[in-house]
Amino acid sequence: MMAVMGKTRLVVVGQGYVGLALAMRAVEVGFDVVGFDVDGDRIKSLAAGHSFVEDVGDDLLQAALATGRYRPIAGFDEVDGFDVAVIAVPTPLREGVPDLSYIESAARSLAGLVGPGATVVLESTTFPGTTEELVGPILEQGSGLAAGADFHLGYSPERIDPGNRTNTLVTTPKVVSGIDAASLAVVRSFYDRLVEETVAVSSPRVAELTKLLENTFRHVNIALVNELAMFANDLGIDMWEAIDAASTKPFGYLRFTPGPGVGGHCLPVDPSYLSWQVRRRLGQSFRFVELANDVNDHMPDYVVRRLVAALNRRGEAVLGRRILLLGVSFKRNVGDCREAPSRRIARLLADMGADLRACDPHIEMGDFPAGVAPVELTADELAAADAVVALVDHDAFDASAVVRHSRYVLDTRGWLPAGENVERL
Ligand SMILES: NC(=O)c1ccc[n+]([C@@H]2O[C@H](COP(=O)([O-])OP(=O)(O)OC[C@H]3O[C@@H](n4cnc5c(N)ncnc54)[C@H](O)[C@@H]3O)[C@@H](O)[C@H]2O)c1
Repeated sequence: MMAVMGKTRLVVVGQGYVGLALAMRAVEVGFDVVGFDVDGDRIKSLAAGHSFVEDVGDDLLQAALATGRYRPIAGFDEVDGFDVAVIAVPTPLREGVPDLSYIESAARSLAGLVGPGATVVLESTTFPGTTEELVGPILEQGSGLAAGADFHLGYSPERIDPGNRTNTLVTTPKVVSGIDAASLAVVRSFYDRLVEETVAVSSPRVAELTKLLENTFRHVNIALVNELAMFANDLGIDMWEAIDAASTKPFGYLRFTPGPGVGGHCLPVDPSYLSWQVRRRLGQSFRFVELANDVNDHMPDYVVRRLVAALNRRGEAVLGRRILLLGVSFKRNVGDCREAPSRRIARLLADMGADLRACDPHIEMGDFPAGVAPVELTADELAAADAVVALVDHDAFDASAVVRHSRYVLDTRGWLPAGENVERL
């Protein structure tokens, strides 16, 4: 049965970066949307019209609330069913092992609401097999219905890129899948109403692998340029110039740039979902992933080593030096600090006795690393720092002021022109 018609009742489980953006878009196209999250404070804030996701502005959220078709909830007491439910809950690693407990509890909370003809889609990034082997059985057990025969089930990976204004949820093609032809048809018609283009694949396993392939590709290529940046520096060759030159090739090359390490919810985590499964199922190591983890995990240490070397050239120690970190989040123009390399860099420098300050207009006070004083980016702050480490190239930062007022800048993003007082990674 095609549940996706007219006023579709949609439940989005998890109102984070992925779930909230999806809920907003669904309201925009006319769905009745319930946004469920176990975090009561988050729900209260959403109900009051305050978004914590940069890409979802308060005005957009408030407009959604004003339609009467978006209801943020922390419990399912007043929900008696749905046409489509999307699960967008975290999939972290716990001591290097995939933690699917959030998906399990999300599926359990939905199971009692699944009725004949309903559709459930998993969006959380996870290893192949999760939709069919974990989510399906939990839904079947809790509903007494059979996946495929009684309700539809599919997987559609999210490609949201926080801070990216060009490639949005709507304009980025969305991969869709179902456990059978009917599920695929319903899942596809649901997303066809939300995004410009859907790309159907033959099974949830392929869709799950697609997402991990994309993120592993990025992770491995970042590791490649990171490792090369370290060698190029030791060889006295400008890696950034080589990257710019290579990027002029219109085929067979994709631009990736070095940085202080990878952060966020995806790159430090997702490839390990795949390597964990390869090891568990096949008893083999996914060497590319392990090597990339190794290189990227050590970039914060390398940044500190380069800073120590720069101070050493001036006959100075880190102890007691005032060091200003520019950017704390994991990437430009976002306030997401999950797995951000700034944390390890701050800890290493604090252990060496640095007087640490940091500036990041996207970050709440409480999210600054321990022992780091939050400051505004001013000429005085720049001039007073013995060294500035540019970790994130937020648009809000005035690059020319940084160059003009700083005594020394270690630029880990290739953001500033290299010069007398600016050294690139
Ligand atoms: N953030 C991104 O850019 C991005 C991009 C693509 C894919 N993803 C994937 O999407 C998934 C969600 O990521 P996110 O960034 O939105 O995470 P998030 O942490 O921003 O949001 C997840 C939300 O789910 C809630 N939650 C946890 N367990 C729950 C449960 N049982 N029931 C209801 N709510 C629950 C949390 O309280 C949180 O608000 C992850 O698998 C992630 O890898 C994220």
